[in-house]
Amino acid sequence: MKTSLQLFICLAMLLSMVEADPEPLQDYCVADTKSTFFINGAPCINPKFVVSSHFATSALAKRGKTSGSQFGSNVTLTNTANLPGLNTMGLTLARIDIDGNGIVPPHSHPRASEVTICLEGALLVGFVDTSNRLFTQQLRPGESFVFPKGLIHFLFNLDSSKPALAVSGLSSQNPGDQISSLAAFTSKPSMPDDILKKAFQINGQDVSKIRKNLGGSSYFERT
Ligand SMILES: *[C@@H]1O[C@H](CO)[C@@H](O)[C@H](O)[C@H]1NC(C)=O
Repeated sequence: MKTSLQLFICLAMLLSMVEADPEPLQDYCVADTKSTFFINGAPCINPKFVVSSHFATSALAKRGKTSGSQFGSNVTLTNTANLPGLNTMGLTLARIDIDGNGIVPPHSHPRASEVTICLEGALLVGFVDTSNRLFTQQLRPGESFVFPKGLIHFLFNLDSSKPALAVSGLSSQNPGDQISSLAAFTSKPSMPDDILKKAFQINGQDVSKIRKNLGGSSYFERT
């Protein structure tokens, strides 16, 4: 009896830790993109001034530029700046353009699960769970895959000659992104070499080389 109660409390605590974004308290809260307040989300403009265009965006209409990308990909996201009507809705839409054999490198979203649909090309997608088990799937146009919240995942264009296009929905208006390689090797300030040497079982030259190769780049824009 006592153990089942403890189990129940543990489950309840675990469930409360995987909550989605807070529920909206009104029909909509169109983001005031000029506000300088920092609150959980963005402040709303007066509903009297809300118009249809606040709920529309062409932010994902164009291909993201991949030419400057060392990974051969570009992820374009909706956010409260380019789609103010999305504020408090707990949603993000992403357009993912991947060159031939390009990747969206292993990364995680601390605040969102993600469901992706392949629209063009041939993708290999996958994630690693917390027991270090890898799940992968090949996607053809029209096929979808789910990346569970917080888990490290990737997308790879299997075709060397044709670009791929995928669109993802994410369960937060601000999913957050951490690319595993960039978090380890290009943080500012840098993680101490001794930590990276031990963690990756490499020497100081390897650390410098990887840092240089990754070039201190950022990938996702911060919102
Ligand atoms: C992604 O594409 C946008 C629009 O073309 C561009 O402004 C941005 O710099 C690109 N990001 C990367 C990482 O190349």
